[in-house]
Amino acid sequence: MRSDPLIPESKLPSLGTTIFTQMSALAQQHNAINLSQGFPDFDGPRYLQQRLAHHVSQGANQYAPMTGVAALREAIADKTAALYGHHPDATSEITVTAGATEALYAAITALVRPGDEVICFDPSYDSYAPAVTLSGGVMKRLTLQPPAFRVDWQAFRQLLSPRTRLVILNTPHNPSATVWQQSDFAALWQAIADEEIYVLSDEVYEHICFTAAGHSSVLAHPQLRDRAIAVSSFGKTYHMTGWKVGYCVAPAALSAEIRKVHQYLTFAVNTPAQLALADMLRAEPEHYRDLPAFYRARRDSFVQALSRSRFKLLPCAGTYFLLADYSAISDLDDVSFCRWLTEEVGVAAIPLSVFCADAFPHRLIRLCFAKQESTLLAAAERLCQI
Ligand SMILES: Cc1ncc(COP(=O)(O)O)c(C=O)c1O
Repeated sequence: MRSDPLIPESKLPSLGTTIFTQMSALAQQHNAINLSQGFPDFDGPRYLQQRLAHHVSQGANQYAPMTGVAALREAIADKTAALYGHHPDATSEITVTAGATEALYAAITALVRPGDEVICFDPSYDSYAPAVTLSGGVMKRLTLQPPAFRVDWQAFRQLLSPRTRLVILNTPHNPSATVWQQSDFAALWQAIADEEIYVLSDEVYEHICFTAAGHSSVLAHPQLRDRAIAVSSFGKTYHMTGWKVGYCVAPAALSAEIRKVHQYLTFAVNTPAQLALADMLRAEPEHYRDLPAFYRARRDSFVQALSRSRFKLLPCAGTYFLLADYSAISDLDDVSFCRWLTEEVGVAAIPLSVFCADAFPHRLIRLCFAKQESTLLAAAERLCQI
C-alpha cells in the first residue's frame, strides 16, 4: 500500500492563487487602502436587506426551483424587455445562477467540446480561460491595445477557423473600462453570421455605463441574440457581491443545455435572496436606473482628486474601474509597481498584464472606485505624493 499522499496531476497546472487574492492579502498585511479587488466598501439597499430578512422569517428556506424562483425570472424578463427591447420567456430562457461566475462556467461547459476554439479579447476577466481549458477547448486571444482597446475586426476574422465554437465578450469591460457600441455588435454579426458560432456576452456592469447611448446589450441585436447567452450579476448592481446571485438569458435550446450543467453544479440558488431580489426589481427600478449617475459622481471626484498626480488617467466609459498610466513615475513592470505601491505608498491596485496571456508591456494599473468618498480621497492623497 502507498504511504505517500496521492498528488493529482493538475488539470490547471499554470493556475495559482489569483492576483486579486494576492493583492488583497498584501493590502491587509501593509494596511494599504484596497482599490484592487472589485467590490464596494459600502452597503447595498436597505429595502433589499429587509426583504431578505422577511423571506427568511416567513420560512422561504427550502430549495428553490432549479431554474430560479418564478417571481424573479418574471421580473428579469420584464426588466430585459424594458431595457433591451427583447422579452425573453421567463420559463425557458432565463436561468438564475450562483453569481455571474456560475453562469459563465455553465455556458462554457455546455457549449465547448474538446478541440473547440474559443475567441476572447485580452485583457480578459480571469474566469473564462480555466473553464474553457477544463472543457478541453483552446483559447484564441485577440489582444486589445490601449488607450482605446477597440476590436480590430480584420484581425478578429483572421482568428476564425472551422473549429471556432464560441466568442466571449465583456461590455462594459473589466478592466479597460471601455464599452462596446452597436457597431461592434454589427461587425461581430457580419463576421460570424454564416458559421455555427455562439456568443457569450458578459454584461455584469450593464448598469454602470456612462456613455450617452448607454449600454449596448447583445440582447438588443435581433440576430445575435438567437445564438447568444447574456450574463448579468445582481452582486454588481446592488453592491452585494457576497450574495452571489446572477442570471443568464439565452434562447430556449441553449438555456436547456446550460441548465443541464447548472442542475449538477449548484442545482438551485438560495431561495430567500431570490425572493428579495424579485421584490427589489419590482419596487425600486430607479435603483438600477440611477446607478450610472451614482458611479459617475464617484468616478469624477476620484479623477478630480488625482488630477494633480503624475498618473495619466485613461477615459472611463463604464464599470467601476479606472486605468492609470504610471510611465511618468516608474520604469518597473506593472506587477512590481503594484507591489511597491501597496507596500510603500499604501494603495493596492491591480496590474493590467495579469488579464493577458501574451506580453502586455504597458505601464497600466487598475483602480477600483466602488468605494466611499473618504476612501477615494485618502487613496488619491497618497497617490498624489509620488
Ligand atoms: C467581468 C466580470 N465578469 C464576471 C464577474 C463575476 O460576477 P459574480 O460575482 O456575480 O460571479 C466579475 C466580477 O468581478 C467581473 O468583473
